[in-house]
Amino acid sequence: MFLVIEGIDGAGTTTQTERLAKALTERGIETHRTREPTDGPIGKLLRQILAGEHAPTDATTLGLLFAADRADHLQREIAPALASGKVVISDRYYHSSLAYQGSEEDRSWIAILNQRAVVPDCTFFLEVDPKVAAQRRQEDDRDEELFDKLETQMRVAEGYRQVVEARRVTERIECLDGHKSLDEIHNSLVERTLALLSERAS
Ligand code: TYD
Repeated sequence: MFLVIEGIDGAGTTTQTERLAKALTERGIETHRTREPTDGPIGKLLRQILAGEHAPTDATTLGLLFAADRADHLQREIAPALASGKVVISDRYYHSSLAYQGSEEDRSWIAILNQRAVVPDCTFFLEVDPKVAAQRRQEDDRDEELFDKLETQMRVAEGYRQVVEARRVTERIECLDGHKSLDEIHNSLVERTLALLSERAS
């Protein structure tokens, strides 16, 4: 089963991906935790770009690179893990490209670049107000990244709203209130994942 966790910067996707993978592993469910940008060659380049090391880089270039990183991710890591029967949980996937690059580039072109990417069995979208997320990022004292400005995050949040609304018709996307406590969100993710697994088994 292939699961994805999505949301704007500071929504808690990384924390929740880690905690969900740990909770499933503890229940004896073979799990593979992964992320985008990946730790592969294109993902490493993307992290340098996000840190501002190769500025300026436009949304067109980023859209192509994220799609290439994803194709590499699928063939190198996701497909083999799924084939061996593991539950794969990815911290971000094509919804990020549609929301982030799709708020500066033509979203339908970004969708075409990602057409071959396997559709996840379920995407959990953590909904958080961009102002709350900005405050969390400040409290965490994170290094400044390319998309950190509040106006950008507000555009991305609107992008996610549109993407979730449109994609929900053809794929499974479950929205969670990202303002709840880490434990409440975590418990809800575990519960929904176990329900999906038993739905599949029956
Ligand atoms: P993030 O997931 O926050 O990772 P880290 O905690 O290591 O900084 O950062 C990834 C950034 O990349 C985030 O701002 C979203 C952005 N991104 C895109 O713009 N498009 C994409 O397709 C993906 C996967 C991520």
